[in-house]
Amino acid sequence: MAEAIRDDSSPKAKLTRSNLKKAFRLFSYLKPDIGKYLAGLVFLALTSATALAFPMLIGNLVNSTKEGTVDSINQQALILLGILAAQSFFSFMRIYLFAQTTEKALYRLRADLYGHLIRLPMAWFSKTRVGEINSRISADITQIQDTFNTALAEFLRQISLVIGGLILISIISIQLTLFMLALIPAITIVAIVFGRYIRKISREAQDKVAESNTIVQETMLGIVNVKSFANETIEALRYGTSVKEIARLSLRSAFSRGLFASFIILALFGAIVGIVWYATLLMKSNEIAFGEIISFVLYTSFIGASIGGLAEIYAQIQKAVGATERLFEILDEQPEEIELSASSRPSSRLRGQVKFENVRFAYPGRADITVLKNLSFEAQPGERIAIVGPSGAGKSTITQLLLRFYEPDSGKIHIDGKDARDYALTELRNHMAIVPQDVLLFGGSIRENILYGKPDATEAEIVAAAEKANARTFIEQFPEGYETIVGERGITLSGGQRQRIAIARAVLKNPSILILDEATSSLDSESERLVQEALDKLMVGRTSFIVAHRLATIRNADRILVLEGGEIRESGTHEELMRIQGGIYAGLSRLQFQNEEFDTSALKSL
Ligand SMILES: Nc1ncnc2c1ncn2[C@@H]1O[C@H](COP(=O)(O)OP(=O)(O)O)[C@@H](O)[C@H]1O
Ligand SMILES: [Mg+2]
Repeated sequence: MAEAIRDDSSPKAKLTRSNLKKAFRLFSYLKPDIGKYLAGLVFLALTSATALAFPMLIGNLVNSTKEGTVDSINQQALILLGILAAQSFFSFMRIYLFAQTTEKALYRLRADLYGHLIRLPMAWFSKTRVGEINSRISADITQIQDTFNTALAEFLRQISLVIGGLILISIISIQLTLFMLALIPAITIVAIVFGRYIRKISREAQDKVAESNTIVQETMLGIVNVKSFANETIEALRYGTSVKEIARLSLRSAFSRGLFASFIILALFGAIVGIVWYATLLMKSNEIAFGEIISFVLYTSFIGASIGGLAEIYAQIQKAVGATERLFEILDEQPEEIELSASSRPSSRLRGQVKFENVRFAYPGRADITVLKNLSFEAQPGERIAIVGPSGAGKSTITQLLLRFYEPDSGKIHIDGKDARDYALTELRNHMAIVPQDVLLFGGSIRENILYGKPDATEAEIVAAAEKANARTFIEQFPEGYETIVGERGITLSGGQRQRIAIARAVLKNPSILILDEATSSLDSESERLVQEALDKLMVGRTSFIVAHRLATIRNADRILVLEGGEIRESGTHEELMRIQGGIYAGLSRLQFQNEEFDTSALKSL
C-alpha cells in the first residue's frame, strides 16, 4: 500500500508509532474544547448508526407488503422518515461541533506557530527559505485543518459503516455475504489502484501546466532581456515543447479515465448483477426475503463506497501526519528569550558604552569560515565609530553581533560594562536602532511605518520625528500625507525617501546605540545630502557605528576602524590614519579623493 501511495503530490509520512505520537501532540490544541469535540464524536457515532439502520428499515418496508396492513406500511415509512430526520440533525451537529472545535484549535496552533516563528534566532532564518516557512504556515495547516475537520471523522464513520454493515449483512444471509466478500473487496482494490494511477498522470499534466506558466511569467517579466537578446524563437520553442507535453499527458490521462469508466461499469455493476442473481436464487429456495435483498444490496454499496473512501482518507491522514511533523519541527526549535508583551519600552537608558573583547565569530551555517578574528575595540558613550573596509570584511557582521542576532564563538561583548548576554534580549534591542542600506517598508501607511519605532507615539512626536529626519517636506507633499500607503500595494518611495522614513523610525525609538550600515551608499548625491544631514542630527548624543563606503562621510568620526579579513588593521582618527605611511586607509582615501576630482572635472568638461 505504501508503495502505491508515494506518488501523491504533498509529501506524506509513513505512519509509524513515533510520528503518530507526535501527531497526537496536536490534540493538546483541542484540549480547551475537548468536551465539544467528544460530543461531536458522539454525533458521529449516531450518524453511523442511523445510516446503518436505513437499509434495514427500507428492507422492512418492502417486506411489509406481504403480511402488513396499509397502516403498518405507513408506519414503516414514517419510521424511515423519522430516522432520516434524526440523521440529518446528527450530521449537522457533527459538522458544526467539529468545525467549532477544530477552527479554535487551528487558531491556537497558527498563533502559537507564528509567535514562535518570529522569536526564532537569526541563525534559523539564515538556514531556512522564506518560501518554505510560508508553505509551513499555509499548506501544512490547511492539511491539518482538513484532517481534523473531516478526514478523522470520516475515517471513524467509514470504519464503523464497514464493520457494522458486514455484521448486519451476515445476519441477513451468511451465504450471500461470503459471495459478496469474494467479489467486492477485490474490485474496490483494483479501482483504488487504478484511480491512483489516473491521479498521478493528471498531476503530471498539472505540473507541466505550472511549468509552462512559469515560462510565460519569466519571459514576460524579462521581456526586455528576451527582446534585446533576440531570443524570441528560443522562448517560443521552449514554450511549444512544454505545451506539447501537456497535450500528450492529458491524452494519456483521458485514455486511462475512459478505461476506468468501462471498468467500473463492467466490474462493479457486474458484481451487483452477480449478487442480485445469487440472491434471487436464494430467494427462490425461500432462504431470504425480497426486502432483505434490497437491504443487502444497499449495505453492499455502503461497504464498497466506504472501503474506497477509506483509502482516500488514509492517504490524507498520512499527509496530515507529515504536515504535523514539519510544524512541530518548527515549534521544537529553541526560540530567543523574547517576551511577547504589549509594553516593551525600555525602562532606563543605556549610556551606550560598547566594548568588543577578542571576539571570534563564524556564521553557524558556515562554521569553517571565521568571519571575525580576535576583534577588540571600544566605543565610549556618544562616540562615533566608523567601520570601513572591503566588502566581505565583516562590517555588517559586527553590527549583527551587536544586535545579538548571533553570539560570538569566543570573546565577549560588553555594553555599559556588563556582558551583553546578561541583558534581556528585548531590552537590549530596544536600546538600539539600525538604518540599513536597503530599508524595507511594511505595506501600510507612512504613519504606520514611522510608528514602527515607537507604537504609542503621539501625533506631535511623529511630525517632529519626520521633521528631524528631513522627511516632513516630502511626506506632506503627498495628497494623503502621513496616510499615504507604501509598500507593495502603495506608492514606491525612492531610496532616499525610504531611508528618511527609517531615520524617523529611529528618531522615535530614541536609541542609545545607533547603527548605520551603508545608510547612504546607494543614494544619489542630492538624497545623500538630505539623508546625511538627518543622520548627523540623529547621531547626536548616541554611540554610533557607521559602516561606510565613501570615506568623505566619516572624516569627522571619533575613531575609524579599518577592517580587513575580519581583523582590525588600522584604528584612529582621519588625521592619524592619513599619517600612516603606506596605510590602507590613506591609500583608499587618496584613491577616492582622486576619483571625486576626476568625476567633477569630467563633469565640468561636459
Ligand atoms: N548569514 C550568513 N551566513 C553565512 N555567511 C555569511 C552570512 N552573512 C555574511 N556572511 C559572510 O561573512 C563574511 C562577512 O560578511 P559581512 O559582514 O556582510 O561583510 P561586509 O563587510 O561586506 O558587511 C562574508 O564572507 C559573507 O559571505
Ligand atoms: Mg555589509
